[in-house]
Amino acid sequence: MAALNVPGLRVRGSVRVPGDKSISHRALIFGAIAHGSSRIEHILESADIHSTAEALRALGATVPPLSPKMYLQGRDMHSPRSPLDCGNSGTTARLLAGVVAGARLRATFIGDASLSKRPMRRIAEPLRAMGAHVELAPNGSLPMTVEGHKVIGIDYESSVASAQVKSAILIAAVLGRVRARVHEPHLSRDHTERMLQARGVELRREGTAVEVAPAQNVLPADVRVPADPSSAAFFVALALLADAGELRLTDVCLNRTRTGFFDVLRRMGAKLETGDRREEGGEDVGTIVARPSQLHGVEITEDEVPSMIDELPLFACLATRADGESIVRGAAELRVKESDRIATLVGNLTRLGATAEELPDGFRILGSRSRLRGRAETHGDHRIAMSFGILGALSGNQIEVDDPACAAVSYPEFWNDLRRVQQ
Ligand code: S3P
Repeated sequence: MAALNVPGLRVRGSVRVPGDKSISHRALIFGAIAHGSSRIEHILESADIHSTAEALRALGATVPPLSPKMYLQGRDMHSPRSPLDCGNSGTTARLLAGVVAGARLRATFIGDASLSKRPMRRIAEPLRAMGAHVELAPNGSLPMTVEGHKVIGIDYESSVASAQVKSAILIAAVLGRVRARVHEPHLSRDHTERMLQARGVELRREGTAVEVAPAQNVLPADVRVPADPSSAAFFVALALLADAGELRLTDVCLNRTRTGFFDVLRRMGAKLETGDRREEGGEDVGTIVARPSQLHGVEITEDEVPSMIDELPLFACLATRADGESIVRGAAELRVKESDRIATLVGNLTRLGATAEELPDGFRILGSRSRLRGRAETHGDHRIAMSFGILGALSGNQIEVDDPACAAVSYPEFWNDLRRVQQ
């Protein structure tokens, strides 16, 4: 019998997307802080992680070039001679501000045009309360100078669910050997907590609060970085919206604080299977298999946002192909990411011919069968570029992404992998 010829987009294959970005930053930082040698396998080799590696070198850490198997030798750090250039990376600036404050060093942080617009008062405030002197540009962003002094313990009520804020405080407290408690409105990603525990730091977690005890040593530990769920998400979405085939994403980090997008997809009717689940280095890991599915629109509420914050651009693109309306609320944080993601998404989608509306803290999208055509403006935002790359790969759509190269911030091989899985 002749093979059935399904028109449109057919996908196939298995992808091990690159290492998780959040875990890669932290593997380097904790490797540099710990006294002793740590091995890191499968680190993400992307622009953001190069920024952290370079900044740690400027702080005196011995960080070899990024490679699939690397060794780090932690030792005392010193103040850098010139400003720390964090490039596009908010995690680099905010977590290293915690290192500088806790280790009682002095450093000025700078970044690219996008990072230079992002809010830093959210870390300046708690770090000042912990004894550091922090100077910011008048609009509350970079350049930022942090000067650490004797570190004071803190009980901090954060108004945002931000893993970067939480991590800066915990890192400063551990290095300064003081107690710290951070309470956040919703639980943000918890890789810092897991890594501290794996390094012998005593930590108490209670709901959305975490507390570290004073005076603790950070022991060295090996890390095998799992595949980034935020990168795997692009291929899961592609398979769901394809016309035929299946994609298998292996080794994906399935930490519950990161898998909100996959949970929402199931609620939309997605055919998703997870298997080969295991624990590796304190993180849940597994394989995801995705197949073409008829999706329907859903509403995303504030409590779901932190566990899918980086996937919301992709969700918006996906919602243009779902039946009915999709709404995201309680996601004002999107306005202060690598671009104002609410404005960027809705502007692009509307221009391409989709029905989308901005809300102050989210967006509303009406799915349809209509073809989307035109140019997507990334504003240099990697996740916008890749989300529209997926939308453009779907049958019927014709989308040009203005700056595909910015995907290198988190996924340098994205466009090659995207070509490879299409037949
Ligand atoms: C990150 C935390 C999140 C996320 C970012 C990476 C981290 O930011 O959006 O991509 O590694 O801690 P916030 O902490 O600002 O929510």
